[in-house]
Amino acid sequence: MMDRLPGFRDFYPEPLPNSDAWSADLRQHIFRCWRETARRYGFREYDGPPVEPLELYTNKSGSEIVAQLFNFVDKGERAVAMRPEMTPTVARMIATAERAYRKPVKWFSLPQLFRYEKQQKGRLREHFQLNCDLFGETDPAADAEVVALLIDVLRALGLTSEDFVIRLSSRQAWQRFFAARGGDSERAYEFYQIVDKMEREDPVVSTAKLAALRVLYEDVTTFVTASQPEPELQCVLDNLGARGLADFVKVDYGVIRGLAYYTGIVFEAFDRKGAFRALAGGGRYDQLIRQVSGGKVDMPALGFGMGDVVLAELLKVRGLVPSFANTVDLVVLVEDETLRAASLGLISELRDAGKAVEYALTPTKSDKQFKRALELGARHTARLERSGEGQITVRLKNLQTREEKILPAAEVKAALLG
Ligand code: HAM
Repeated sequence: MMDRLPGFRDFYPEPLPNSDAWSADLRQHIFRCWRETARRYGFREYDGPPVEPLELYTNKSGSEIVAQLFNFVDKGERAVAMRPEMTPTVARMIATAERAYRKPVKWFSLPQLFRYEKQQKGRLREHFQLNCDLFGETDPAADAEVVALLIDVLRALGLTSEDFVIRLSSRQAWQRFFAARGGDSERAYEFYQIVDKMEREDPVVSTAKLAALRVLYEDVTTFVTASQPEPELQCVLDNLGARGLADFVKVDYGVIRGLAYYTGIVFEAFDRKGAFRALAGGGRYDQLIRQVSGGKVDMPALGFGMGDVVLAELLKVRGLVPSFANTVDLVVLVEDETLRAASLGLISELRDAGKAVEYALTPTKSDKQFKRALELGARHTARLERSGEGQITVRLKNLQTREEKILPAAEVKAALLG
């Protein structure tokens, strides 16, 4: 049998065929929470192409993502890449259409993204990512709004301040740190990438890499340990405190972000136990729209991306995956084949009214039909019957209370909706 490509997923409906399978129902649950929370914050949904010109990513996202691109030459000889992230796309969209929108613009999207990564826990070659971005505001009130949204998305999924924390940092603080040590601004991104990897890398390796930029390892760790908030970070902390969200954040300069385009406050969401990779990451990227538009549009921007992979793993471990068992409202039992046509009429009417209705497609023993109704977790069964005078009635049974009613077919809909 042909297997799927490594790093890609099949999503099955519940009940799952095995414990490693990915659940389409869980994915839907996550998407619903993502959309619903973004809506509460006044964000509007957008989307873009899954394949983009390769050039959109080279130089803008930074070497790490470029090394992971799924890129190829298309049949029209264009160098293209499957989107590894949404930010360059949305920057282009805003640069093209910003005049049509009032500022600040608040947009979200749920793209599937593709990165040719080394296989590891929490990292696949495709993932879905909630992207929430805000355009046209430089005040840290915007940074606080975006971080609050990130917190509330995770809260909407049932996670609490005991489960996760947002680590807040500042690229500007790091830029000043580097400049104060005589760092060449041309090599600042190289420096950020070393700091970004420090938590996961052998200190000996980090020390050597930093030495090449004439920065001392201990100097960096002292700066991280102090994590003295910048004035604008303090504004964000105060703003979040006023919302009652102080417990969800901490200033932590150990975060710096691996992508090239960040310019200001940056942040990452992690589980408190530190057992997983980042749940989400983002920050301010005030220069990207200018770069993408070739200098035509200048607009401050910030946002975050939250992936579904680590999130689903964390929800499972915390027991926060809801039950997806009851997907059927009613099963129509067809026990008398001469009533199949009338049964189909009732089924259609109830489906038109919004009910999820199941029935046996072909003649099936009545005990089997009933067993199936129980397996499906249906709330009711309905069975058409012919009365003595040849009239058709419906025996409606509530499977929870075991209560039974006999009704004219025309009244079933009202009985179920009532
Ligand atoms: P990122 O940190 O590369 O940021 O990705 C954000 C999140 O997406 C990560 O924290 C992780 O949950 C998930 N993720 C990334 N790569 C993978 C992967 N290979 N497998 C599974 N999950 C993954 C960005 O992409 C920025 N564009 C986010 C952003 C939006 N910044 C501003 N606006």
